[in-house]
Amino acid sequence: MTERRKILVTSALPYANGSIHLGHLVEYIQTDIWVRFQKMRGHECTYVCADDAHGTAIMLKAEQLGLTPEQQIANVKAEHEQDFADFHIAFDNYHSTHSEENRELSAYIYEKLKANGHIASRKITQAYDPEKELFLADRYIKGTCPKCKTDDQYGDNCEACGATYSPTELINPKSVISGATPVEKESEHFFFKLPEFESFLKEWTRAGHLQDEVANKLAEWLDSGLQEWDISRDAPYFGFEIPGAPGKFFYVWLDAPIGYLASFKNYLSKQEGVDVAATFHDYWKPDSSAEVYHFIGKDIVNFHALFWPAMLSSAQFRTPTKVCVHGFLTVNGKKMSKSRGTFINARSYLDHLNPEYLRYYFAAKLSASVDDLDLNLEDFIQRVNSDLVGKVVNIASRTAKFVQKSGGNLSTTIADEALWQQFVEADQVIANCFENREFGKAMREVMALADAANEYIAAQAPWALAKQEGTEQQVLDVCTLGLNMFRALMTWLKPVLPQVAADAEAFLQESLSWTAPIAFRGGEAIGQFKPLLSRVEKEKVDAMIEAGKEALAAQQPAAAPAADSELAKEPLAAEISFDDFAKVDLRIALIKDAQHVEGADKLLQLTLDLGGETRNVFSGIKSAYQPEELIGKLTVMVANLAPRKMKFGTSEGMVLAAGPGKKEIYLLEPHEGAKPGQRVM
Ligand code: MSP
Ligand code: ZN
Repeated sequence: MTERRKILVTSALPYANGSIHLGHLVEYIQTDIWVRFQKMRGHECTYVCADDAHGTAIMLKAEQLGLTPEQQIANVKAEHEQDFADFHIAFDNYHSTHSEENRELSAYIYEKLKANGHIASRKITQAYDPEKELFLADRYIKGTCPKCKTDDQYGDNCEACGATYSPTELINPKSVISGATPVEKESEHFFFKLPEFESFLKEWTRAGHLQDEVANKLAEWLDSGLQEWDISRDAPYFGFEIPGAPGKFFYVWLDAPIGYLASFKNYLSKQEGVDVAATFHDYWKPDSSAEVYHFIGKDIVNFHALFWPAMLSSAQFRTPTKVCVHGFLTVNGKKMSKSRGTFINARSYLDHLNPEYLRYYFAAKLSASVDDLDLNLEDFIQRVNSDLVGKVVNIASRTAKFVQKSGGNLSTTIADEALWQQFVEADQVIANCFENREFGKAMREVMALADAANEYIAAQAPWALAKQEGTEQQVLDVCTLGLNMFRALMTWLKPVLPQVAADAEAFLQESLSWTAPIAFRGGEAIGQFKPLLSRVEKEKVDAMIEAGKEALAAQQPAAAPAADSELAKEPLAAEISFDDFAKVDLRIALIKDAQHVEGADKLLQLTLDLGGETRNVFSGIKSAYQPEELIGKLTVMVANLAPRKMKFGTSEGMVLAAGPGKKEIYLLEPHEGAKPGQRVM
């Protein structure tokens, strides 16, 4: 085969403040398929990733949970790694940007940029939260839009009228974190002088490292002029302190891509007999013959195709061979949504469905373009069942038993040369599709050949032939070809379906390799066929969606682990006006009935009397209450909450409760004398 390439591959580093969801998985599955393909082709391919552990959001999240940032990022990393492993995402190394390797590399690269005159410093004025003693990024400030006067708009743009502005223009601005009114405060910042890289970037973005559509988009930015990039943040900040600048930290996006290098270095240091410095240099020196591929989503293109190559080139590292950009996931044609139950976390999916269904579905939908892709749940069920179960697995289940009956050895005869030739010729075409990230095309080729295989088997009907006298050899020949076609299909699907392929290998008693063009296998023994994949059941898909909605409903009562003060656990939400408060209609409600809800883990169904009017409310309090003990009690409910459709019915309001969750949820109860339907003020 061709020469052995050295390829280093990365996926974007997920933030350490949230769970992996199906949107993320578009990227990790796409990358993993490509990496598995390269490894099957015999290349030296290394896949590294890490958690992106720094920044204000992670710092605040930890605080909210009563954890140190270090504890928070350790917890999330463990969760992420488990999710990825269960989706068969096979990183060679999974590290953290909060690591020694990254601290050193970030400092090293920064020093280089500085020595080359690419770092500027100057004082800037920014919004500052005087209570929390923290500079506020635009998204941490809310107020009234200066143009259309809509309340509760973020510091940079108005969702109501689309106006863009600076946070100082907001009317009545408030810190989202403390509710305090921000003040303006000056401090010194460091900037990366991106404009000095204009001509380098104009060339680099057109030199074959990017998809055309991405290069075109970047050209718009490049033509309208580049800005210096603010790479520092003031304490308190969870990150790396800038060398020689006490109290100043690298902005998370400076050290995040350096995390790719850090994870690779960490990987090398764990390999036996590897000269870490020499190998690292070999991959990252300016004229390296190794290849570097970054897989990313379209939202982070500027970081990877402008700042990153500019930084690398200033610091005298090589730049990426390719930045491969994919689009965003929608579910049933719409943005993922918690209330529709389509904001699906990796773990919720795994609780109900086989990860390989999703791997196949994404593969079938992926191309080398940046177009968004849709997970249509009907189509998902239909396609997985018809392609994988109906077409591919079926070939083996219809033919293996006849080989077993005739002694278990494959024939040495190719029963239909022309048909087998079609498979041989497709081999390189399919390999090219994988190489070029045209996975959807690859899957269509594979399924077209699976159709041809099934037609052949149906026409030969070995089950009917086997009933006639003297046809043993013919049956064996037909089924041997059937199994060889199955072998070829499974080889091509192995990067997509690693577990199904492993099970197929066990029964075929061989390792399916793709270092050479596929070849006919004859004469040898195969083992007992076992079912390889079951059908997707619609009920399971429905249950997954419902579980998402239920989890959202159950989130309503507070949930936070231990911290010193109760207030610190759940910091106060931003201040609201009296008018805002008056919009919430709280009423005394009598619990007339309470029932378990069949199939729901967290919910109880409450029938509430509002003094004449009856409401049906689902509440996530099952872990704390037996239904019987609630009947006859008074409580407080939000009576004017918009009804929400759930699997079990419509919930018409919400009861109020406090506590950390599980057994500790306490429904509010009024003092004696209050009457159902009375307004609570
Ligand atoms: N931490 C940064 C990346 C730093 S890389 C040096 C980040 N993290 S993220 O968790 O928000 O996203 C990780 C990757 O998942 C990104 O490439 C992002 O584009 C991708 N996706 C996140 N949501 C997605 C969808 N809904 N659909 C497809 N990809 C999505 O960005
Ligand atoms: Zn507005």
